[in-house]
Amino acid sequence: MINPLDLYAKIESLIGFDAQYEMLYQNYLALLKSLHVKTILDVGCGNGKFLKHLKENGFEALGIDRSTKMVERALALGVNASTKELCECEAEGFECVVAIADVLNYIPPHELDDFLNAIAFCLPKGGYFVCDVNTLYGFEGVAEGVMCQDNGTQFLCVDATFSNKELFTKIVLFEKEGALYRKEEGNIIQYFHPLSFFKKLTALKLVSTKPITLFGDAPDKTILIFQKR
Ligand SMILES: C[S@@+](CC[C@H](N)C(=O)[O-])C[C@H]1O[C@@H](n2cnc3c(N)ncnc32)[C@H](O)[C@@H]1O
Repeated sequence: MINPLDLYAKIESLIGFDAQYEMLYQNYLALLKSLHVKTILDVGCGNGKFLKHLKENGFEALGIDRSTKMVERALALGVNASTKELCECEAEGFECVVAIADVLNYIPPHELDDFLNAIAFCLPKGGYFVCDVNTLYGFEGVAEGVMCQDNGTQFLCVDATFSNKELFTKIVLFEKEGALYRKEEGNIIQYFHPLSFFKKLTALKLVSTKPITLFGDAPDKTILIFQKR
């Protein structure tokens, strides 16, 4: 069975969030410029479009992602990316780490402390971690629902349900092969993390937050800026 993260990579262009993600990237670029950092680790870099922005703006960046398909796409853009795990990255190797477009929501609550400590390990004292998390409205008012897309060779159905602070997304993709369709399916779970959790971390200090409205009528994400203690 296909890795659900690779299945997401396959359907990403059918979902078509490009304009909203570009808006999010512009917010991150402005923030990173204001922080005066040069070396950046992009965790969950996906297709590498943000890495390309970083490169074009003079930053030195590496992207890592657990999806081989995403990393292949990033490499095709001419940026530096790998399937290396966060825990394999060098101690104090980057002035700043970013995790953009829900990456933290992919981490289950019981793994979040370890994940954030691994990020802190990659930073020197005072180094920055900038990420975003979905608000409750982002899950309940924006992400939940059913979406179908048909481009003639691919038929996609995405069914997302939010309950008990988890968004369960069932993905079914039919791809035309000759006269027949091949079916692939997988599930992705995303977890709501309340802001209160991020205020009491030992290795990272939450220094500022910024509400962002990409899809709805109210903030659906919050950008969080941390500094390593
Ligand atoms: C919604 S996508 C966002 C991708 C990218 N940051 C962007 O802006 O387009 C979330 C990405 O996180 C990756 N991901 C999820 N959990 C991860 C983990 N524990 N380590 C590395 N990457 C992860 C997924 O493979 C996916 O590419």
